[in-house]
Amino acid sequence: MSTYIVEGGRPLEGSVRVHGAKNSVLPILAACLLAPGECVIHNCPDLSDVRASLDILRRLGCRAERQGEAVVVDASAPVGWDVPDSLMREMRSSVIFLGAILGRMGQAQLCAPGGCELGPRPIDLHLSAIRALGGAVEEADGGLRCSGRLRGADIVLSLPSVGATENAMLAAVSADGVTTITNAAREPEIVDLQNFLTALGARVRGAGSSIITVEGRAPLHGGTYTVPADRIVAATYLAAAACAGGEVELTGVDWRRLSTVTAVLREAGCAVESTPAAIRLGCHAPLRGVPPVRTAPYPGFPTDAQPPLMAAMAKGSGCTVFVENIFESRYRHVDELARMGADIRVEGRVAVVYGVPRLHGARVRAADLRGGAALVCAALGAEGVTAVSGVHHMDRGYQCLEGDLAALGAEIRRV
Ligand code: EPZ
Repeated sequence: MSTYIVEGGRPLEGSVRVHGAKNSVLPILAACLLAPGECVIHNCPDLSDVRASLDILRRLGCRAERQGEAVVVDASAPVGWDVPDSLMREMRSSVIFLGAILGRMGQAQLCAPGGCELGPRPIDLHLSAIRALGGAVEEADGGLRCSGRLRGADIVLSLPSVGATENAMLAAVSADGVTTITNAAREPEIVDLQNFLTALGARVRGAGSSIITVEGRAPLHGGTYTVPADRIVAATYLAAAACAGGEVELTGVDWRRLSTVTAVLREAGCAVESTPAAIRLGCHAPLRGVPPVRTAPYPGFPTDAQPPLMAAMAKGSGCTVFVENIFESRYRHVDELARMGADIRVEGRVAVVYGVPRLHGARVRAADLRGGAALVCAALGAEGVTAVSGVHHMDRGYQCLEGDLAALGAEIRRV
């Protein structure tokens, strides 16, 4: 298990290009299963979750390999429909393969993903969407077995679940007739999935709005797609610069995909300017407290940016209230931040952050992907040396966190 050793107290300076979006590429890799041909995914980040997805595709009989910055998948002749427990456990979000496997193979078998560090991760909305499309779903012994020829349906999601929206889209592409998905998630990752499916010949429209329409059984073929930059990685790097101070530029990023994050940083006193392909942030004074930050489905404040932004607000003046409305247990970084001198009080979904003038180095442990990234942000703004263990969590979503931060002048190494 690796550990980051961070020597804090140095401002960040420089420019870094943000890698492709994890939460866009995972459903896109599942979508490759639908196309009897070769797909090329450019700007595909090299992450442990991506490698796990490629393992699943190979297990299902596809050719799946990395070629530099791209990944090539050929699903001309998939043979399998079951995802073994070992691979399911490797990546909780592998439930995203359910709709695509069922649509292509007529059946699917995988184990229930179970919980994760963020609390229970139910998939009831995924399964109700599959049932609405005519799929038979059996749940037994922690496993899922789905089968049936799918037919178009009007699906209504009780909440705009990102994964359930994606699974419904992927299944509906193979259904006879038209499917509508109402109360669909509006995240940019949904738009990316629609764009990719369209490149394969599928007839999908409405992504980015609350109602998505899919005309099933369009003839599909291979295609290519370039994954946009990861908005949460960008938010993380902005939070790091806000905590450490300095001037940074992030290139390749569409600022519109994280405008709620940059708005909070501006209110806290950072100078933020955006161009069509870059975001620049300058921070030369302690951050001010800001009005309550409430996480919400897109276009609200993204839950994944809550931990890094909390780390930034922990050092500064004033008080900021965070309300985590998406996940039940997304404050596991708070106790670790407290070991670095942060003053944060948690009451259920509410965390009250009292800014302190200084954070100090400590030995801390990452409990999840974004919480671990938050600890690195805090370490960069702390005085002294911090050891952040549990780096495997960060490897799920950051291609080379230490490399990118070192390029911005951080003293960080992996041991
Ligand atoms: C996706 O998770 C992302 N993961 C998460 O990013 C992100 O935090 C989340 O969307 C919200 O934006 C990927 O895209 C791989 P949801 P997902 O379904 O699809 C409840 C990261 O750090 N729910 O929108 O699992 C659920 O419990 C990860 O990159 C049900 O009740 O999120 C949660 O409270 C973390 N039943 C809420 O909805 C269901 O069937 C939102 O979950 C599904 C979800």
